[in-house]
Order: sequence, then structure tokens, then C-alpha cells
Amino acid sequence: MKMIERFSGIFLIAGLILLLGAIVSLGLVPALMVDRLNPRYGLPQDVPPAFQKHYATVTLYQSALLRGRDLYIREACWHCHSQYVRPVANESLRYGPVSTPGEYQTVLQLPQLFGTRRVGPDLSREAGKRSNDWHYAHLYQPMNTVPLSVMPAYPWYFTVGADGVPQPTEDGVALVAYLQTLGAAANATVSDPEASYVLPPKE
Ligand code: HEC
Repeated sequence: MKMIERFSGIFLIAGLILLLGAIVSLGLVPALMVDRLNPRYGLPQDVPPAFQKHYATVTLYQSALLRGRDLYIREACWHCHSQYVRPVANESLRYGPVSTPGEYQTVLQLPQLFGTRRVGPDLSREAGKRSNDWHYAHLYQPMNTVPLSVMPAYPWYFTVGADGVPQPTEDGVALVAYLQTLGAAANATVSDPEASYVLPPKE
């Protein structure tokens, strides 16, 4: 009788133990770790003044940010915009501080939206760079603010009232709220460490 056949029972048990170990370490433990991630991890803890009229509580504001991110994905904004300032080609002169791994550890960045190419500018440092009104005018029709823009218009985020003035819908506000958080933490550490998570948009 060959050696391996003499100990076949032991091999069977050892095999089963290894299989069980693999299921636990490769399946069960990672699944438990993912479940432990707080679905609101890293979200801002207060509503910035510019959004207080839209969101009465911080929970509503946080939900809007998550919704805004979903819309950003749905509209494939990431197809034309990156969210990663690279440490090459003096990008920091154009876009602000080079991205660091720590910035990508909030639920608004998981999975990260690095993007694939830049038809438009990188948006990693968009927070506070423009006013909300600028964003609404731009989203409604980019050529309103940048005459030669090739960015598509997104009029379905607005309703036009009787006075003919387009007003952003709930989704429109959520999308802009999301844009106004991009890189806010990094911007704050550069300009003012005491600044709140979301910098107030410029007038
Ligand atoms: C076809 C490519 C394309 C798509 C898709 C696109 N953009 Fe743009 N975007 C551009 C270009 C080009 C510019 C630069 C000209 C301008 O400001 O309009 C730009 C500029 C911007 C800016 C201004 C950045 C700054 O501060 O100068 C923001 C904000 C922006 N886009 C957001 C979005 C959002 C949100 C979406 C999705 C709803 C989106 N873009 C989809 C091409 C695109």
C-alpha cells in the first residue's frame, strides 16, 4: 500500500481543515470587516451655511452628499473629470495640493473616482472654488459661465418657474453640495486649519 493511501483519512481531515480555514480567512473575515464600515464614515458633521436653507439637519445633508455622488456617477461626470492631483507635471500649480491617500478614506471616496481622462479639469479641489450660484448656472448651461465650454448641459436638474428663472431641483442641489465637498479637507489644512470641513463658497 502506498504511503499516501495509508494516511488517506488524515489527508482528508487535513484537507477539510485547510478548506475551512480558507473559507474563514478569505470569505468570512473580509465580509465581516466590510459590514463594520460605517455607511456614513468620514462625512461632514455640520451643514455649511450656504446649504442650511436646503438641509435642516446634518443627516439630511449627509444623505444629499451621498445622493450627489450617485448622480455624479450616473451622469458619468467622471468620464471627463479626474479626482486625483498627480505629483507630476506641476499639477499642483494648477489644481492645488497633490492628493494624498488619507483623502480617499471617506464614504464619499469609496470606491474612488480617480477618473480615466481629463476632458475637463480635475475636480479634487473644487470645494469653495466657485459659488453655488456659479455651479447652478454652469450646470444648467456651461456656456453661461465659460463661453467656449464643451461640457454638456444638464437642464434636467432644474425647473423653470413662471418668472422664467431656472431653480435647481433637489437633485441639482445635492450634486452641487457634493461638488462643494471635493477636497475641502485638504483645502482647509492648506489655508486655514480651523476652517470647517466645507469651505463657504466665494461670493
Ligand atoms: C464631455 C466632457 C464633460 C462631462 C461629461 C462633464 N464635464 Fe464638467 N467640464 C468639462 C470641461 C471641458 C470643463 C471646462 C470648461 C467649463 O468650465 O465648462 C468642465 C468644467 C467643469 C467644472 C468647473 C471646474 C472649475 O472650477 O473650473 C465643474 C464643477 C464641472 N465641470 C462639473 C461637472 C459635473 C458635475 C458633471 C456631470 C454632471 C460634468 N462636469 C460633466 C467637461 C465635461
